[in-house]
Parts: sequence; structure tokens; C-alpha cells
Amino acid sequence: MRSEVLLLPSRPRLDSYDLVIIIDTLRATTVISRAIYEGAMGVYPAISIPRAKSLKKIIPNSVLAGERKAFKINGFDLGNSPSEFTVESVGGKNVIITTTNGTKAVERYKGYGAVVAMALSNLRAIYEYSKNFNSLLIVCAGSHGEVSLEDTYTAGRFLNLFDMVGLNDGGIIAREIAREDPAKILKTSRHGRYLSEIGMYSDIEESLIENDVVPILKTDLNNINFFGGAR
Ligand code: MLT
Repeated sequence: MRSEVLLLPSRPRLDSYDLVIIIDTLRATTVISRAIYEGAMGVYPAISIPRAKSLKKIIPNSVLAGERKAFKINGFDLGNSPSEFTVESVGGKNVIITTTNGTKAVERYKGYGAVVAMALSNLRAIYEYSKNFNSLLIVCAGSHGEVSLEDTYTAGRFLNLFDMVGLNDGGIIAREIAREDPAKILKTSRHGRYLSEIGMYSDIEESLIENDVVPILKTDLNNINFFGGAR
């Protein structure tokens, strides 16, 4: 198996890969797997607030979720804290979500291959799933164009599960930091510190709770992308 790791959204070397793995550990991809784990029918990533609102008009039984500057968006049903996504709030419903970096990365890389969403929470499940593929593109969403510690760490933890050849430098860097303790990484990261400062420290703890969901990007009858789960 071969993989290319982008520590930031940038141009991949190849035009296509067997599987594209999007990482936004704090918090978009954590939330996507949590929502599906809690019974959401589908999670629709939207690149902007207007796009999310227009999807709401056409996607039945849907709730609006997401953040700007980590806070819930005015008029939306849910923010982007994993604990908000429960059987009661999303079970049997569709979730339309827009976030600052994570959902944009999904849109940008969906043309490069089949897409899944990964965070620390569903690392094992994605590992099991990706064994069936030969070439992986691993995209760390980062934060406002900067490398983020928690996404790089998640990529490294994932890579360390494999015996992989031909890693690019991004992959080598990720593997190097993957020896650290996950809670320490999340607390130390810039975004982790920001979440703590604004009273969302529990989101860090929530991001460490594991589930067995593989959120796979699919297409609905109207040709709109959504994440549906495999377990
Ligand atoms: C993002 O997409 O940038 C993040 O998920 C931000 C956050 O919710 O903390």
C-alpha cells in the first residue's frame, strides 16, 4: 500500500487515488462519525452557510449544524460539539453541516477518489476499511491555512498501524509525533487551547471517545453528496 499525506490542503501529486481520507479531528470529522454513530441517516457537508440553508430546503427531515469561529451559527439547530449529536437530536434525521475547514476539504478533494472522514474517534474503523485499498490520499484539513497538530497526529496514528512503503515527508513527520499521548496533543494544539478558552474543553474529551463508524461519501438521488455510514 502507498499513501500520500497532505499536512495542509494542497495539490496532490496524482490525479486519483483509491481512497481519500479527510481528517479534521477538532472537530468536523469527529462530529461526522458521531452523528452517524448516533443514528443520523446522512451527513451533508456544505461549503458555506448559504449552501447549507439552501440544502435545508430540499433535504427532507434535516437539521442544520456547524460552526464559525467554533460557535454555533445563528439560526442553526446544532453547533459543532460532538456531545450535541445524540439519538434525540439526529437519530433518523439528515444533518447538514458547514464548518470552517473540514467541510471545505471534503468538497475540494472529492474528485480524487472515494472519500471517508476520519478522526481519532474512528481511526480503527478506517484502518480496517482502508486495508482493501492500494493507494491512499490522506488530507489534514488544518486550520485557516496552517498545519494543525491534532490532524497531523491523527494521520500519524493511522499510518503507524500499517507497514507502509514510500511515505512522503508529510507522512514521516506525522509518524514522528504519533508517539505522544492523544489527550496531550489535543490539549496542546492551538485549536484545542482555543476551544478550552471559550469553554469547550469537554469537546476535547469527547473527541477521544471511540466509535466504529466509517463515514463514506455517497451521492443521493438529487446528486448531492452526503456521508453515510458503514460499520
Ligand atoms: C473546522 O472545520 O474548522 C472545525 O471543525 C472547527 C471547529 O468546529 O472547531
